[in-house]
Amino acid sequence: MATVVETDVLIVGSGPAGASAALALSTYGVPNIVVTRYASLADTPRAHITNQRTMEVLRDLGVEQEVVAQATPQHLMGNTTFCTSLAGEELGRVRSWGNDPLVQAEHELASPTRMCDMPQHLMEPVLVNAAVARGTRLRFENEYLSHTQDPDGVTATVRDRLRGDTYEIRAKYLIGADGGRSKVAADAGLPMGGRMGVAGSINIVFEADLSKYTAHRPSTLYWVLAPGATVGGIGAGLVRCVRPWNEWLIVWGYDVSAGAPDLTTEYAESIVRKLVGDDDIPVTVRSSSAWTVNEMYAETYADGRVFGAGDAVHRHPPSNGLGSNTSIQDAYNLAWKLKLVLDGTAHPRLLDSYTAERAPVGRQIVTRANRSIRETAPVFEALDGLAPQTPEQLWANIAARKDATEAAEKQRAKLREAIAFKVYEFNAHGVDLNQRYPAESSAAIVPDGTPDPGFTRDPELHHQPSTRPGARLPHAWITRGTRMLSTLDTVGRGRFTLLTGIGGEDWVRAASAQDIEIATVVIGPGQEYEDPYGDWARLRETSDAGALLVRPDGFVAFRHAAAADAGELLADALRQILGHG
Ligand code: FDA
Repeated sequence: MATVVETDVLIVGSGPAGASAALALSTYGVPNIVVTRYASLADTPRAHITNQRTMEVLRDLGVEQEVVAQATPQHLMGNTTFCTSLAGEELGRVRSWGNDPLVQAEHELASPTRMCDMPQHLMEPVLVNAAVARGTRLRFENEYLSHTQDPDGVTATVRDRLRGDTYEIRAKYLIGADGGRSKVAADAGLPMGGRMGVAGSINIVFEADLSKYTAHRPSTLYWVLAPGATVGGIGAGLVRCVRPWNEWLIVWGYDVSAGAPDLTTEYAESIVRKLVGDDDIPVTVRSSSAWTVNEMYAETYADGRVFGAGDAVHRHPPSNGLGSNTSIQDAYNLAWKLKLVLDGTAHPRLLDSYTAERAPVGRQIVTRANRSIRETAPVFEALDGLAPQTPEQLWANIAARKDATEAAEKQRAKLREAIAFKVYEFNAHGVDLNQRYPAESSAAIVPDGTPDPGFTRDPELHHQPSTRPGARLPHAWITRGTRMLSTLDTVGRGRFTLLTGIGGEDWVRAASAQDIEIATVVIGPGQEYEDPYGDWARLRETSDAGALLVRPDGFVAFRHAAAADAGELLADALRQILGHG
C-alpha cells in the first residue's frame, strides 16, 4: 500500500451526483478524482425525467445543448396513460410534464430551459465526458473501501479491481456519491431516517416496436392496471419509453417479503406480454434486475470533510422523477462552496450551509415520491380493483364502468378524479422549482427583514418566483444589444453576480471593490442589459437602485432596496455568506 495519490476533492461514484460534482468542480478549476466501482457507466436507463431546474444547472455547466440533442423532447413526454395493457382498454390520461397548456405556459414563464427525458445511461456519458475534458481524473473499476479523516484532510483506501491491489488517495474533501447503498455515508455515520425495502420492483429493459400503441398518445409513461399490479413495486405496472417508440423499460412489483423472483428471460417476457397485451409484436428482452423501493433520508449530509450527495443521502421511488434531478442539484450546491473554501476565499463554515440547504429538500422529495405511490391507489379503488378475488372480477369491474347506470356514472367520475389527481406526480412544477433556502437555517443567505411571502397557490403544483434571499433568481428574458438572454444566463460560472438598475452605480463600485470576483449586471434603458418587455421590473421585487447578490448556484443571497451605504452593506453580506462573520 505504498502509493498515495493526492487531490483536492475525491468523489466516489460516477452516477448523476458524482459525475455532476466532478463536472462542476472541474469547470471551476478544482482538481478532483472520481473513483467508480464498475468498468462502465450506467448500462441501463434508470432515472430519466430531467426537470427545468436541472436543465438550468446543465446550461450553466455548458452541456444543456448536448442533453437536448440526445433526450426525448418534452412534447413527446406528456400523455400519461392508464390502461389495462398497451393494446387493451384505455382508462384515461393525464397531461404531464408541462404538456397541459396552462402548465406549459407556467414552464415557459419560469425558465429559459425545457424539461426533457434523458435516460441515465445517456446522461452519465455527457456529464463524465465534459468533466474529464475539463480536468477530472476518472478511475473505472476502482472501489472505495474506507476512509479516515484528520484536521487537514481525508485518506481513502481504494481497491483497484483490475490489478487487485489497494492504494490510498489523500484528498482535502471527500464526496460520497456512491448511491443508495452508500458505504461512504455509512462509514461517515450520516444518520438516516425512514426505511429501506418498503416494496420490491423489477426493471425489464426490452426492445419492441410499440408505435402502434403509443405514437398517437406520445408519453414517457403508460400505467397498466392488470391483475397483480398492486403487489409491491410502485403502485401499478409501468411501461416506460426509453427511446420513442422501440426501446422500453417495464417496472413491475414483487412481494418483498417473499424475495425477488427468478429473473429468467421467460419470466421477463411473460411480464412484457402481460403489459403490452399483443403477442404478435416481436420483443427482445435486453436485461432485467430487481430493486427495492426505499423511503430514507439523511438528517445531515456531512461529517467533517466528508459529504454525501444524491441517493447516498436520499432514497426514494422514481415517482415524480426526482432521483437524478435532486442528485445533480445537490452536487451543484456543494461544488461552488468547496471551490471557495479550497481557494481560501471562504471559511470552511460555509460548508455547513450544504446540509442546512439540501437536507430539507431531500426530506421533501422522499416524502413526495412515496406519497405519489400511495396516490395511485384511488385509481384502482375507483374500479374496485385494489384486492379483486380473481382476474376475471377485475376485468368485470373495469367493464362495469361502461354501463348506463347511476352506479357506473359515479364510478366514471371517481376514476376521472383519481387520474386527474395524479398531477401531483406528473405535473408538479412547484416541486421542481420552488426550492427556497431559509436564512433562519442557512448562514449563506442574508435575511433582508421582509416577511416570508409563502405561496399564493399550491406550492407543489405551481412555481412562484421570488427574489427574497434564499429563492432561486427568477427567470426573465432581457436583452444585451440584439441578443436575448435570460437573467439566469447572467449568473453562474462559479462566481457571484450583482444585479442592479439605473441609480445602482454605488453597488457596481462596491462589487468591484471586494476581494472576490463579482460580475455586475445593470439592467435598464441605455444600460448594458435592457428589459424591453418589463418582465424583470415585474419580477425583481426591488427598486431600480436596489441590488440582488446572486450566488454561483443562482440563488439570491442578499437583497437591498436602495443604494445608500452600498459598500458597507455588500461587504457585511459577503462576510456572512463566506463564513467570515
Ligand atoms: P447512482 O446510484 O446513480 O450512482 C452511484 C455510483 O457510485 C455508481 O457509479 C456506482 O458504481 C458507484 N459506487 C457505489 N459504490 C461504490 C464504491 N464502494 N466504490 C466506488 N464506486 C461506487 N430513478 C428514477 O427516477 N427512475 C427510474 O426508473 C429509476 N430506476 C432505477 C433502476 C435501478 C436499477 C437503480 C439502481 C436506480 C434507479 N433509479 C431510478 C434511481 C436513480 O438511478 C437514482 O436516483 C440516481 O441514479 C441517483 O444518482 P447517484 O449519483 O446518487 O447514485
